Amino acid sequence: MTEAWALENDGQLALGPVRVKVPAKINLHLGVGPLRGDGYHELHTVYHAISLFDEVTARTGDALTLTMQGEGVGQLDLGDDNLVIRAAKALAVAAKVEPKARLHLRKSIPLAAGLAGGSADAAATLVACDALWGTQFSRADLAKIAETLGSDVPFLLFGGTALGTGRGETVSPVLARPSKWHWVVAFAEGELSTPAVFRELDRLREAGQAPAPLTSTDALLAALRQKDPEVLGAALGNDLEAAAISLHPALESTLEAGRSAGAHASLVSGSGPTCVFLASDEVHGEKIAEAVRPHARGVHLAHGPVPGARVG
Ligand code: C5P
Repeated sequence: MTEAWALENDGQLALGPVRVKVPAKINLHLGVGPLRGDGYHELHTVYHAISLFDEVTARTGDALTLTMQGEGVGQLDLGDDNLVIRAAKALAVAAKVEPKARLHLRKSIPLAAGLAGGSADAAATLVACDALWGTQFSRADLAKIAETLGSDVPFLLFGGTALGTGRGETVSPVLARPSKWHWVVAFAEGELSTPAVFRELDRLREAGQAPAPLTSTDALLAALRQKDPEVLGAALGNDLEAAAISLHPALESTLEAGRSAGAHASLVSGSGPTCVFLASDEVHGEKIAEAVRPHARGVHLAHGPVPGARVG
């Protein structure tokens, strides 16, 4: 908690600023089960946090305010519906404190991209406000609040590589050999709404047009225990990919560009439209990045796994 204390210009001891870095996630396996009565689908997924980060800074203030810079400026609503504001309020209610903070979001994770950027920002806000307000909640306490904010918010608190079940909110770490996997992340033009992609998958399945659903995560978990990107590449899969391509057909050529450049795997990240490619190393990643660049709005080289939301 000491890192949260600093002397401000007027010489008064004040809390803050608290700066929290939070990663984007990709899904190494995204198996989508049936639609449940509550409007969510049962999932079996393997989350993986990668080195593409947003940052939330929390300072003391007289009210709850949010400013931002970077990806999505002018597009992202900074009002009460924003997940950052909702996360701060949810923590304040749980901790029985006044929700007062000046929050600033530095965004590198694109909006509605299938990288859980909004969920990442919510997780970062929980950690930042917990430090600012001295609430001293455990990660498990924060995870309980996190799941009320979105299905993949709990994972972003922990990071690493983890199994997600239920609607994705129940996470348990995957015990894998320490490995560094190299990813090329291609940001597509446009956005995809997660609910729309899930609905499209239901439609394709009803029409008998969806590929066979993924079965268990066993092959992927076994692949993570080896260090061979070829083996891992063969085990990756995403049930939402067909639906994302159906709504955004240009993704086919992005995926094909990566395959032709020798990626060990090319797949849509989460509900898309971001595509990710598995490379052997950084040099291989650069070669794949060059091939997919004409098919993307931006390309980022990343590695994983990395830790979840952390102060510092
Ligand atoms: O949990 P979150 O708010 O991130 O989910 C956004 C939307 O994605 C849900 O409202 C739902 O339409 C869809 N979804 C789903 N099944 C899940 C997770 C999300 O259908 N397991």
